[in-house]
Amino acid sequence: MGGLPKKAQQLEALRGKKTAVLPLDSGALLFKDEKLPQDQREQLVVTAQGIVTAYNKMSFAGVGIARQDLAAGLPFLLALQKKASFPWLSANLLSRTDRKPWFKPHTLLTTGGMRIAVIGLTAQGADSLLTDKDNAVIAPWEEVLPQELAQLRGRAGMTILLSSYPSAINRKIAEAHPEIHLILQGGDSRGNMPPERVNNTLITQVEPQGKSVGFLEVHWNAESKRWEETGSENLLTDKQNELDRLGWQINRYRRQGDPTQAFKNQPQVLEAYNDMLAKQRLLEEEILRLTAEQNARDANRSRFSSYSFHFETMRKDLPDNPSVRAIVDATTSEVNRIGKAAVKARISESTGRKQEGTSEKYAGSTACTSCHAPQFAKWRTTQHATAYDTLETKEQQFNVQCLPCHITGPAAQTGQEMLALAHDLRQVGCESCHGPAQAHTLQPAAAKVGQPTMATCQRCHTGDHDDRFNFSEALSRLRCGAD
Ligand code: HEC
Ligand code: HEC
Ligand code: HEC
Ligand code: HEC
Repeated sequence: MGGLPKKAQQLEALRGKKTAVLPLDSGALLFKDEKLPQDQREQLVVTAQGIVTAYNKMSFAGVGIARQDLAAGLPFLLALQKKASFPWLSANLLSRTDRKPWFKPHTLLTTGGMRIAVIGLTAQGADSLLTDKDNAVIAPWEEVLPQELAQLRGRAGMTILLSSYPSAINRKIAEAHPEIHLILQGGDSRGNMPPERVNNTLITQVEPQGKSVGFLEVHWNAESKRWEETGSENLLTDKQNELDRLGWQINRYRRQGDPTQAFKNQPQVLEAYNDMLAKQRLLEEEILRLTAEQNARDANRSRFSSYSFHFETMRKDLPDNPSVRAIVDATTSEVNRIGKAAVKARISESTGRKQEGTSEKYAGSTACTSCHAPQFAKWRTTQHATAYDTLETKEQQFNVQCLPCHITGPAAQTGQEMLALAHDLRQVGCESCHGPAQAHTLQPAAAKVGQPTMATCQRCHTGDHDDRFNFSEALSRLRCGAD
């Protein structure tokens, strides 16, 4: 939920600039996985509630229900729905006995003087998510969609589907139902997907877990209800996106000051920089030309509807919305309090017994000092050695959603283990990178330890926590092997 204050701020800026803004989410909003580990449940549920409060504040217009949203059980989602000021949509999550939907199947919104219908569909799967008591099934889309669309016929100028089905099925839906104009897909599929046209339907998706926001600007002709034939418009958007990316890269080079000075001893870097500048000039010229062509066509094109789009990553340097920041802070401190209470409860339960959370294969970083003093001394100066302290400063050291990357990760698998981890395995210790080394401390030559690869680092240096991670550059800063 870390990116929500930024998302909220962007939405607010957009509302200031555009006449009709329709914030929609295709689902998988609450949880990452379909199953919640029992010992993390309480913390994850509080986080989910915080997300809904933040979405209320952001005045979302509708949210689809993906399978992951059912991870804490159908009764939980039904109760949470009551606290949401936006509709949760699913036309195919039905009561098993009377086939009536458990949630609103669709919503009709008026925006920019036009009625828009938004329908929700939940992807099917092995329905182990739903218990017998739930009296619920996820019906196939073929069963519900035709009647849903029949009901909406003539009542909306545009029809949007929020679907957590995979791409292949959404295409089938588009082929069968050209009266759906836009499908926003979510759920399991990774990555941002630029709008793709299938007949008269656009299909697009934003990467999961709020790492990006997708902006789709639509000029809709509610009479013809047809997208214009694609052509130079998309090319123009592509070029604009390319220019944005290039500008972002160029700015990176400029971070250390004027590149002609900063890189004057690195001719290759400087050459790459100059190439980018040249490319930027070419792109700018091409965009001017394409824009002029487009304006010329605009005159006789008004019968058709057009769109442009872009995606934005929730980068660290974007501004926060203060009121959503406050919601996120209140939620994370509650999550931390729950973890802390769990630790206290266990300590009083297990006094005198061995700490259960610590794996026997791990020795802890201080165990390495005697034989690897230079590495230990070096490690102590890195941020890895204070990663757990960082969480303490933020009062998040009991949040099981933060811990995996801010402790000697692999030593603890479950939430309980993470919270009960021995002092010496807190921080990102030696064994986060070199693997379990207890046996090695006893028999160094017989039990060798491994060296990390890029994948070892990327377990924690993921795009959403470190969007600038560069393996060789980061390695050279660590200098663990050097004496
Ligand atoms: C009792 C002394 C001793 C202790 C304690 C010890 N090591 Fe070692 N370590 C050695 C020796 C000796 C070697 C060289 C072994 C060889 O290459 O045969 C070594 C090698 C290594 C290597 C290099 C492996 C390679 O392939 O280049 C790493 C990494 C390492 N140790 C990590 C650790 C870590 C992490 C700890 C603490 C959990 C630790 N060691 C504790 C003695 C020790
Ligand atoms: C268990 C998770 C984890 C692993 C594995 C990990 N890191 Fe980190 N790394 C972190 C965290 C967390 C921080 C930030 C710590 C803080 O500031 O509290 C960090 C910080 C860093 C920094 C300092 C960043 C800066 O801006 O100064 C570098 C460099 C770095 N890591 C490189 C690496 C490399 C290279 C690897 C793999 C060989 C690696 N890390 C593996 C979690 C990890
Ligand atoms: C997937 C791994 C991962 C998770 C989960 C994670 N972090 Fe981190 N965190 C990192 C890495 C990697 C860095 C270092 C980033 C860098 O060097 O730019 C970092 C850096 C930080 C920093 C210092 C740099 C900054 O951005 O100010 C703070 C504070 C922090 N994390 C807090 C948290 C909190 C709070 C949570 C839980 C809500 C959390 N982290 C969860 C990997 C993670
Ligand atoms: C963030 C990951 C990371 C952490 C944490 C880390 N190392 Fe390393 N270590 C490396 C990498 C990567 C290498 C390979 C050498 C290099 O390229 O820097 C290495 C190399 C080594 C070597 C081999 C040195 C040689 O001369 O070949 C030893 C010994 C070692 N580490 C011990 C430790 C000990 C002890 C700690 C904890 C005090 C530790 N490392 C913490 C990543 C790490």
